[in-house]
Amino acid sequence: MDLEPAPEPQGPWLEVLRERARRSIHPAVWAYLQAGAGEGMTTAEANDAWRAVRFRPQVLRAVGEADLATTLLGTSVTSPIAVAPSAMQRAVHTGGERAMAEGVAEAGSLHVVSSNSGTRFADLGAAGPWWLQAYLPPERDLFRPVAQAAVAAGARAVALTVDTPYPGSKPGVDHEDWSGIDLSWWRANYPEADDGRWQDALTLEDIGWLRDAAGVPVVVKGVLRGDDALRCLDAGAAAVYVSNHGGRQLDRAVDTATALREVVAAVGDRAEVYVDGGIRAGVDVLAALALGARGVFVGRPALWALGAEGGPGVARLLGELRSELKECLEQAGCASPDEAPGLL
Ligand code: FNR
Repeated sequence: MDLEPAPEPQGPWLEVLRERARRSIHPAVWAYLQAGAGEGMTTAEANDAWRAVRFRPQVLRAVGEADLATTLLGTSVTSPIAVAPSAMQRAVHTGGERAMAEGVAEAGSLHVVSSNSGTRFADLGAAGPWWLQAYLPPERDLFRPVAQAAVAAGARAVALTVDTPYPGSKPGVDHEDWSGIDLSWWRANYPEADDGRWQDALTLEDIGWLRDAAGVPVVVKGVLRGDDALRCLDAGAAAVYVSNHGGRQLDRAVDTATALREVVAAVGDRAEVYVDGGIRAGVDVLAALALGARGVFVGRPALWALGAEGGPGVARLLGELRSELKECLEQAGCASPDEAPGLL
């Protein structure tokens, strides 16, 4: 009996993209991408927090066309929208991290490459700018060659993820189901002596250690409090990245829109502040910029784009979000992302 092909998904473009990705990604991998920790409350609330922000648009400013170009830690990008680090990209699309890199480069953006990447850094290709994301192993020195290989291959900064002593429990994610998924697509860049253990005892000293080991600036990813942001900067961080890991670590952790307010209030002009979690539209990006973020990162949407369409899909995602943000800035009377904080 011939089965009718499933009808093409309909609806808003990002929902169509997500549905097309769901159909093309292995069900167990899909469950892993979408999951939040615990009951998934933090994951579920993430986008609502951006939707709750209200703007006070400015008028009579002859904005014309907004210019979205900016810099993230000194790197020029075509908009403040970049791609967050995520593991298992080769399980999402055969092109994996390399296809992601190509799509991001085509969009003129930057991405953060997970240290659990399944692609060797040297094989990412000479695409656009990228940062390494770091999970430090208990034996720190095993990470030195990882960082050095990344920097030799072009990484301009390292984002040290500090919210993951080990992966949070995600009900419904069953690693036994991963038939056909090559688990060597995890940690292709760590030395063989690394046993895959997680670091459950990070300290402020690790920031300086990593900066010296890598020889590039360190961004601390996973900060949710103003006091922690200041401790990171005092310890040598170049920038702070507000994140609750897409709700995948501590369920009921504060949403990142709320945390961003507190972190920006503490940090002021001392350093750039970035944010991720639940950014799904240009208007969400406007909310983040208004709250003081220098840049935003998208996690799952980039994986949906990669799964559905490979590198070109990633470029299209970033282009769509950029166009939406451009319209939002122009409607709000802002000539550039820098002017968004005036909207609150
Ligand atoms: C992640 N994230 C993540 N973060 C990190 O620092 N290193 C990593 O290896 C990963 N891996 C990873 C895998 C998958 C499947 C997901 C969904 C997420 C977290 C990621 O960088 C980011 O913080 C969140 O995904 C942002 O939230 P949204 O945009 O997915 O809502």
